[in-house]
Order: sequence, then C-alpha cells, then structure tokens
Amino acid sequence: MKLLLLSLCLGLAWALQDQSQVPVQLGFCPEQVAGPWQTIKLGATNRSVIEDGGAYLCFMTGIQILANGNLNVTYFHRKDGNCVKEYYIAEKTDIPGRYTFEYEGQIYLTFVFVSNIAAIIDLENHSESGILTVVELHGRTWFVDKQGLEAYREHTSRRGIPQRNIVNLLASRKLPSIILKNGHKC
Ligand SMILES: *[C@@H]1O[C@H](CO)[C@@H](O)[C@H](O)[C@H]1NC(C)=O
Ligand SMILES: *[C@@H]1O[C@H](CO)[C@@H](O)[C@H](O)[C@H]1NC(C)=O
Ligand SMILES: *[C@@H]1O[C@H](CO)[C@@H](O)[C@H](O)[C@H]1NC(C)=O
Repeated sequence: MKLLLLSLCLGLAWALQDQSQVPVQLGFCPEQVAGPWQTIKLGATNRSVIEDGGAYLCFMTGIQILANGNLNVTYFHRKDGNCVKEYYIAEKTDIPGRYTFEYEGQIYLTFVFVSNIAAIIDLENHSESGILTVVELHGRTWFVDKQGLEAYREHTSRRGIPQRNIVNLLASRKLPSIILKNGHKC
C-alpha cells in the first residue's frame, strides 16, 4: 500500500514536468558524465538566482556514479559569505539521463546534451510561485567547442531564457579565485 502511494506520488510529480521541453541526450550512459567538470555558463528564467548570493550560483566540479546508479554530484557555492563544497545525490528515474534531488525543494535534473567536451544540465524547480528553470553548461576543461555552445544556445532559447539571463563564468572575475585557491573561494 505504502509503495503504491509512493509510486502514485512520484507519478504525479513527474506529470508536473513538461517533458516535451526537456529532451534527454539520446543513448545517455552515466559513465559518460562521470569525473571532473568545470562550470562555464549558467542561465536562469529568474536572473537573480544566478547572481551574487543567488541559490543557483554554483560551480559543479565532479560527478561520481554510485553503486545503485544514483549520482554523487560535487558543487561549490557561496553560503553566508563563504565558499562551501557540497555533495548532492541525484536519484535516478526510469528515464536514463533524468534524475531528481532535493535543493530548496524538489529538483528535476536532466542531461540534455553530453559529449566528450561538454555537458548541458537542465534543472527545474516547482514551487507555488511557479517554475524556475536553470540551464548549466559544463566543460571537461575551460574550453567548450562550437557544438556544445550551439546546443546550449538552442536549449536556453527553448526554455525561454533570454541572453541577458545567462552568466558566462569564464568572463567573470570569480573564476581566477576558484582556480588559484583550489575551490576554497567562489
Ligand atoms: C526571483 O528570485 C528571487 C530570489 O532569488 C525572488 O525574490 C523573486 O521574487 C523571483 N522573481 C520572480 C519573478 O519569480
Ligand atoms: C559523495 O562523495 C563524497 C566525496 O567522495 C563522499 O564523502 C560522500 O560520502 C559521497 N556520498 C555518498 C552518498 O556516497
Ligand atoms: C524551489 O521550489 C521550492 C518549493 O518546492 C521553493 O521553496 C524554493 O523557493 C524554490 N527555489 C527557488 C530558488 O525558486
């Protein structure tokens, strides 16, 4: 009975997400996203969440695949003026490439695009005040090729994120402090 209720709830939660707008990378395999990453760009439907002090101004530095298929994702973000390192467990769903986790509410995490050079992650947060969408561009190094940049442009536009709501972390002054201090300042 409990299990039935749980699956009903999960089913309802999934129904809330308009999946047609969030394609998953075809043939997604988790091994492809494991290992170190650098966050290159962040875009959001509400710009303030990715500005200084925003809850989504985050730097993803690595993904580890757990034995049960979930992902252990390392993020650096600012908390009370300090740069903190945190691990989020993204729980797998029935759809390869789509996960959920808890961060200020239930978040749907989708790998929209994955190559050997770049990865695009779509985050969607539902609340009473509406839906917040954040789209992240990560690179294996600080370089992202044309294909990755084009996929990012395409997906942010599909999600209704205007250019002015996209932060290029490569260009921001935050970057050198992250590299130099080895993630202890962001
Ligand atoms: C955008 O997010 C901020 C918090 O970061 C919130 O105060 C504001 O109400 C949000 N704006 C909209 C239009 O949802
Ligand atoms: C996630 O990774 C960190 C660092 O390796 C580790 O300390 C933590 O226990 C991991 N979490 C889980 C649930 O495996
Ligand atoms: C995410 O959604 C939760 C409710 O599920 C809400 O409390 C939280 O404020 C939202 N976060 C942002 C940054 O909008």
